[in-house]
Amino acid sequence: MSGAAVSPSLDWNGDNGRRWVENQDRLDRMLAAYGEALARVAAPAVGDHVLDVGCGAGATTFDMAARVGSSGRVVGLDISAPLIGRALDLAAERTAKTDGAVEFRLADAALAEFAPDFDRIVSRFGVMFFDDPVAAFANLRRALKPDGRLVFVCWRGAAENDWTRLPMSAIRHLASVPPPDPEAPGPFSFGDRERVRRILERAGYADIDIRPFDSPVPFGAGDTADAALDDAVDHAIRVGPLERALRGVSETVRAQALAAVRLAFAGKLRPDGVWIDGAAWIVSARPA
Ligand SMILES: C[S@@+](CC[C@H](N)C(=O)[O-])C[C@H]1O[C@@H](n2cnc3c(N)ncnc32)[C@H](O)[C@@H]1O
Repeated sequence: MSGAAVSPSLDWNGDNGRRWVENQDRLDRMLAAYGEALARVAAPAVGDHVLDVGCGAGATTFDMAARVGSSGRVVGLDISAPLIGRALDLAAERTAKTDGAVEFRLADAALAEFAPDFDRIVSRFGVMFFDDPVAAFANLRRALKPDGRLVFVCWRGAAENDWTRLPMSAIRHLASVPPPDPEAPGPFSFGDRERVRRILERAGYADIDIRPFDSPVPFGAGDTADAALDDAVDHAIRVGPLERALRGVSETVRAQALAAVRLAFAGKLRPDGVWIDGAAWIVSARPA
């Protein structure tokens, strides 16, 4: 197990990791459709060995364990001590006897040592944060059996993801929101499909398939439209790009920003709450 370093873009062992732990239930509900799409493409067989990279609190790890059954094995690997801690707590609470053996490792996926043991490497939004993605994916390739497959889901660009585009556009006149460097490690660093392909080719992968997957993200719920909107705004300032953009602004600016975000979210109200469009790639590749 290698030591967990601090990501330069997002502090997964500090505030950001803590926020993900605090909001884990809700984030899992928000990302569920993306995890299901990932599982459909990864399609692990009973008995398979699966590595879940950037597993966070383990939702995908547990899902994979249920799919590979008691003869399989699933390793969830993450750089964040708080999130691995949460995953271990959830594992202890689980009683399903049909699950394959689940193990969690605190490690940097870019540096961890692997034997070529895995039929699948999967990730739900956990591979966009590497400083040197070519080196990291080359390292992960060493974990795959020769006929194994890497399958991950990552966000497309911020401009295509209304769940971030809407709130960030709404506050642009109030807070400094520098346009994100599209290649800097972070949630949208794999927005450019050709960049993802180049990274994987250089890292030693072949048969690279990158297909769009779009699904609305449940952002807010409540008994009334107002309650659902309040809930959506409350969530948006707890975790994610909006929370980061509003750090350190005055109370007045913060209140104006939240009113602007609420207005932007109002266009996304449905009878069952606030649902905001999300856009991802599902990426699949084999070792070359
Ligand atoms: C957006 S979260 C997704 C978490 C989880 N897969 C999910 O869907 O809930 C990204 C995760 O990647 C992890 N991560 C970031 N860089 C990593 C690295 N170099 N090695 C391992 N995990 C990393 C973070 O700690 C975080 O848990």
